Amino acid sequence: MLDLFIKNIRNDYSVRRHLLKSLTWRIVGSLDTTLLGWIVTGKLNTGLKIGGLELFTKFLFYFLHERAWHQIKLKGESKEKIAERNRKNIEPQLFKQTIKINRQQREDKNGHKSITLWLTGLSASGKSSIATELDAWLHNHGYNSYVLDGDNTRLGINTDLSFSKEDRKENIRRVAEICKLFNDAGTIVIAAFISPFAEDRQNARTVIGADSFVEIFVDANIDTCKMRDKKGLYALAEQGKIKDFTGINSPYERPATPDIHINANNSTIKESVATIIAALEKSGSITSGEVSVAL
Ligand code: ADX
Repeated sequence: MLDLFIKNIRNDYSVRRHLLKSLTWRIVGSLDTTLLGWIVTGKLNTGLKIGGLELFTKFLFYFLHERAWHQIKLKGESKEKIAERNRKNIEPQLFKQTIKINRQQREDKNGHKSITLWLTGLSASGKSSIATELDAWLHNHGYNSYVLDGDNTRLGINTDLSFSKEDRKENIRRVAEICKLFNDAGTIVIAAFISPFAEDRQNARTVIGADSFVEIFVDANIDTCKMRDKKGLYALAEQGKIKDFTGINSPYERPATPDIHINANNSTIKESVATIIAALEKSGSITSGEVSVAL
């Protein structure tokens, strides 16, 4: 119990802040009580005793009270609700602009459809390596393609997001919107995100459009991922140094019916890329061989 408390003080900024805030506010309050006790009783000693006892008991209760409130989610106060309210307020002031050149024209110019290849799987399952090789293959065969990767977007546009369930949802929502824009611009997007929650992946499919969304499950089991983990994150998560780590202390919901299933335990990156290309050719998402660009 005490161990957990000390660990929380070390790892959690909000626990440290609540602890310090409880202490400073209590010192201010208890100095006041000491002063009042002294004035009313005329005895400094009595004032100090009351103030001292109050300092300890109220510090404890204030801290517990803060932590309890931290757990409470008031109805209507979630990020989603606030965003929804903002959207409703602002929506009447916004007007969707039509752009002269549409997606179809851009696809025709590029000579291929613009789709999103959504790679989901555990950290270190091979998503980024597959994405990079797949991107290179597409680029070298005349396709316009681009990789969006979890680590990179979290270092940029999503720098404000943590790995809580709520923030992962927002991470995937933003990324899905970006994929949609890239697809509108005529580009094939390869999106490599753990995206552990089925609901978030479903939302991404809805935002991007079911016809343009190809879900690719990079299926490596946790032992394989731990072995491959160059970043050493699994070891840190197992030592309790990273919270909400997918596969250790945060869940991964396996896709039930992915469009393409890669057995990443036993395949090389090149084999996985070949499997994806073959599946895309079979479904007609890309044409075999080089792209022929309409002039
Ligand atoms: S997602 O769950 O929100 O889709 P995302 O793909 O953006 O995750 O980011 C995953 C990357 O962040 C991993 O490749 C890993 O390197 C890093 N990472 C750091 N902390 C965590 C964590 N707690 N859980 C998962 N990945 C993490």
